[in-house]
Amino acid sequence: MSDAGDGFSGATIEGLLAPAIRRLPPPTSLSPLPWDLNAGVPDRDTLPWEALADAARAALAEDPGSALTYGGSLGYEPLRAWIAARQSVETGLDVTSAHVTLTAGSAQGIDNVAAAFIAPGDVVVAGAPTYPGAIRTFRARGGVVIDVPQDDDGMIMSALERVLETRRMTSQQAKLIYITANYDNPTGSTLPLARREALVRIARAHGVLILEDDAYTGIDLDGPPPASLYSIAKGVGIMRCGTFSKTIATGLRVGWVVADPLIIKRLAFARFDNGGSPFLHRTILKYLESGAYDPHVAMLQKMYRERRDISAAMLVDLAEPYVSFRKSAGGFFHWLKLAPGLTADAVAAAAARHGVAVTPGTGYFANGGGEDRVRLVFSVLPPEELKVAIAAFVDGLAEVASGVPASRS
Ligand SMILES: Cc1ncc(COP(=O)(O)O)c(C=O)c1O
Repeated sequence: MSDAGDGFSGATIEGLLAPAIRRLPPPTSLSPLPWDLNAGVPDRDTLPWEALADAARAALAEDPGSALTYGGSLGYEPLRAWIAARQSVETGLDVTSAHVTLTAGSAQGIDNVAAAFIAPGDVVVAGAPTYPGAIRTFRARGGVVIDVPQDDDGMIMSALERVLETRRMTSQQAKLIYITANYDNPTGSTLPLARREALVRIARAHGVLILEDDAYTGIDLDGPPPASLYSIAKGVGIMRCGTFSKTIATGLRVGWVVADPLIIKRLAFARFDNGGSPFLHRTILKYLESGAYDPHVAMLQKMYRERRDISAAMLVDLAEPYVSFRKSAGGFFHWLKLAPGLTADAVAAAAARHGVAVTPGTGYFANGGGEDRVRLVFSVLPPEELKVAIAAFVDGLAEVASGVPASRS
């Protein structure tokens, strides 16, 4: 940033930033490389733009005045009711529109929860690794993120119990457990039912709230996941955020939080953006009511299952000496464990030289770790390109392993 002559140089602006913001790492961004296996987003060719255009026109024609004026902090009630009805069927609980607030994606759901509950110094417990956007959000609000180790099945419950017990003894009890139980980002793991039950029991015993991040729920590649934490907890002491980002389009920026109506009121109170876009809320509801959504999600599941299987088979065939991984049951990611001697940074740099962007594991750890891990996205590229990208990635791996540049010409 240049000094415009009025004394507000880049350094001055940096100095004026809130300390919690100044200390944050930058957010992840899209890669300019030819094959981007870095960004966890849907395939662009699947975006249902024509159906959304029809829905937008119908929403505007139906009630332009309401679509194009402030709609309040909770969001459009009929869309909240649609989400509530889905959640009722899934959880067997009585979920109503009073249990739902609409947000700008899960990301704002996490921020809304943090704004309402996390004061400077408050402790948030999260898996190590976990979604970096959540780490940044909690830290921006002054929260302290404490790690709980994960294995192939997700957060380890004995470790969670130990962490909460230690916090209790230091009289700084954790306030919130943040977890993606279905198709975790970055690990792809799905928390088994027994761990879900244990988590709810442990959280309750320690008086700690749960934030269940459902960003990938719906991207089921091996059938539906186990019962949600929300349903196991019977909706008590838990907030569940979700999104249309992964099943429709990230650019919509529409998601939600489901929780007890008392909590929902407090979340709406802790919002300062005049609410989401009534136009988008109405457009999405028109799209959902058109009947196009469920077939669209089923199409995505089939498409991503094929891509997961193709890329997994190639990685096993070509990269076995260099990486190991557990095939995920949903979502967008392979979480690769690198063989001893290979480091994430070296592998990502070598992959980039071969035109492939992958994400080093280190960015997913709040307090260090992940040097032996790389996250690879299988959702974005069509099969033929995905195969080329995986082959190029393996060339990069081999290059790091041998110290000799490889070529697949
Ligand atoms: C675990 C997780 N939560 C939340 C988000 C944010 O998604 P959105 O705000 O687009 O709903 C992401 C995006 O990648 C994610 O991976």
